[in-house]
Amino acid sequence: MVNPSEQVNKEKNIESVLQEARLFPPSPEFSADAHIKSLQDYEQLYAKAKTDPQAFWAELAEQELHWFQKWDQVLNWQPPTAQWFINGKLNISYNCLDRHLTTWRRNKAAIIWEGEPGDSRTITYGELHREVCQFANVLKDMGVKKGDRVGIYMPMIPEAAIAMLACARIGAPHSVVFGGFSAEALRDRLEDAQAKVVVTADGGFRKDKVVPLKSEVDKALEHGASSVEKVIVVERTKEPVTMKEGRDYWWHDLQKTASADCPAEIMDSEDTLFILYTSGSTGKPKGVVHTTGGYNLYTHMTTKWIFDLKDTDVYWCTADVGWITGHSYIVYGPLSNGATSLMYEGVPRPSNPGCFWDVVEKYGVNVFYTAPTAIRSFIQQGEHIPNARNLSSLRLLGTVGEPINPEAWMWYHRVIGGGKCPIVDTWWQTETGGVMITPLPGATTTKPGSATRPFPGIIADVVDKDGNAVPDNAGGYLVIKHPWPSMLRTVYNNPERFQKTYWEPITSVEGKPVYFAGDSARRDKDGYFWIMGRVDDVMNISGHRLGSMELESALVSHPAVAEASVVGVPHEIKGEDIYAFVTLENNYSASDELAKELKQHVVTEIGAIARPGTIQFAEALPKTRSGKIVRRFLRQIAAGEDIVGDKSTVVDPSVLDKLREKV
Ligand code: WT7
Repeated sequence: MVNPSEQVNKEKNIESVLQEARLFPPSPEFSADAHIKSLQDYEQLYAKAKTDPQAFWAELAEQELHWFQKWDQVLNWQPPTAQWFINGKLNISYNCLDRHLTTWRRNKAAIIWEGEPGDSRTITYGELHREVCQFANVLKDMGVKKGDRVGIYMPMIPEAAIAMLACARIGAPHSVVFGGFSAEALRDRLEDAQAKVVVTADGGFRKDKVVPLKSEVDKALEHGASSVEKVIVVERTKEPVTMKEGRDYWWHDLQKTASADCPAEIMDSEDTLFILYTSGSTGKPKGVVHTTGGYNLYTHMTTKWIFDLKDTDVYWCTADVGWITGHSYIVYGPLSNGATSLMYEGVPRPSNPGCFWDVVEKYGVNVFYTAPTAIRSFIQQGEHIPNARNLSSLRLLGTVGEPINPEAWMWYHRVIGGGKCPIVDTWWQTETGGVMITPLPGATTTKPGSATRPFPGIIADVVDKDGNAVPDNAGGYLVIKHPWPSMLRTVYNNPERFQKTYWEPITSVEGKPVYFAGDSARRDKDGYFWIMGRVDDVMNISGHRLGSMELESALVSHPAVAEASVVGVPHEIKGEDIYAFVTLENNYSASDELAKELKQHVVTEIGAIARPGTIQFAEALPKTRSGKIVRRFLRQIAAGEDIVGDKSTVVDPSVLDKLREKV
């Protein structure tokens, strides 16, 4: 683990962050209208949840969700296993759809969708319910039963959300794989989840290009993933695809004849809702398991209070449904609240760098949630681009995915928010299911660069590696001290890894087990959290999580590569970029062409998000006596910093100087 106090001193940004003295209280008008209207309201809720978490969550679960049967017990906590709402019965698709149909919301827009080429669709709650029921019946006809896993590998089109909700409706856990992952990465995930059916599309539109998806599924199934029996294909781009008789079916053919009568399956609160793969510090991605009741409640409450949703709002989260942000804050959280969730297929691209602002203007978006990396690229493009659009409908902004540097925060506030919109900087993870540390926009005075304070019910702390509290402003490891409803339940088929990754790095705090987030943080005198970044070998590239070892295995699978070590280096737009040190097999020699080929090889193995920024060829890598590569020094070399730390752990320290000379 990286020592957080070393990290504090090293990161120059943190120095400026420490000096950050600008305060942004919510305006009285915003607060008056907000769900949570004042600091006192927040503090009261927080105190209530801390004193009696079970009563706090039970009251909300009763008020906010529909249960077919009430639970007998709120929480069963057998560390590290938590169960919420024991014996409670519900269905999240019922909470996202059916219950709105008996209200005026039946004809409210559930999803407003805009395609990259400019096509669009508005789907009401009534229509969405119908489509979901039909597709649920399609899945049943394909042999999918409660408990069977379904892979979803889709572009950002409404059918992705429909497929997720249809799985939830029949109790088949979905495993969404980001459409930017390669066939190889898809295959690994489908295999681990033992998916029975895959839902995909011919392709999608992204950055002015057609991205093929069905052909990637074909490749994935050619080399494995033998559990997959059927593939359902949405026609999106109309590019030719090969359809395998008896295995592959067109979505529109099946939907046409499917019945729209499909009552929601009665699910147990602890039945698995989905598996979502995320990178860890070992080579293989982890299947993070989320269950039904706690996840439904927590994403519902966080969406309501953090995004302060009003029934008239158009809410837009720019994430992809392939990530947890898309699951929790495009699909489940907003729809459970009966909100209008905007879904956009495109990303800022050469032909229209201002496309996001066109969408804001076209639909009068009120709440906008995006990533710091996107904000930094908007800054680079220049403010004339957003300034040329009418953004006056915006009333609340959010960010997620990585620490936001105060200057980017200020720009976002001034240029996009017109100086009047609160910003919610939300810290959370795939594992946490929902936002954990965040402002509540009508209550919290924000400080640029800080995710501020924990959501009610979240007991967060900063400790040293022995679990002792650290003083204000000293860096430490971020831990969560009490289970929360949307906590991951396990790592799919790997309970040992669940235990080892999250519950062992810090054995206990005040004698009790704690969840180790893998991040370091600092807490200031006002109790505000400042997240500093990962302390494990996980990188954050443009808000996407990638493990060093995953990249290293991709590199060494190329015949030219003998050994590889990958580290993150600071990058102005991406936050971090991938820097790979590579030694070659005897019969290969370093060249620009080979570097290019290796970068492409990683793209083929993982996907375009994993393309290394730099490949540095080396004669040798710094190793310990036991043969372990010391990434700590490589990180310093890649960043062009002085080598600090005890070099005597390295067998031949001259290796370090040689690597330096080459940078
Ligand atoms: C990691 C989780 C959950 C949303 C998307 C990423 C970093 C996330 C923030 C933030 C500073 C943040 C952390 C975390 N992170 N949000 N507001 N400030 N860092 O999900 O892929 O599971 O990655 O993203 O390092 O551990 P993820």
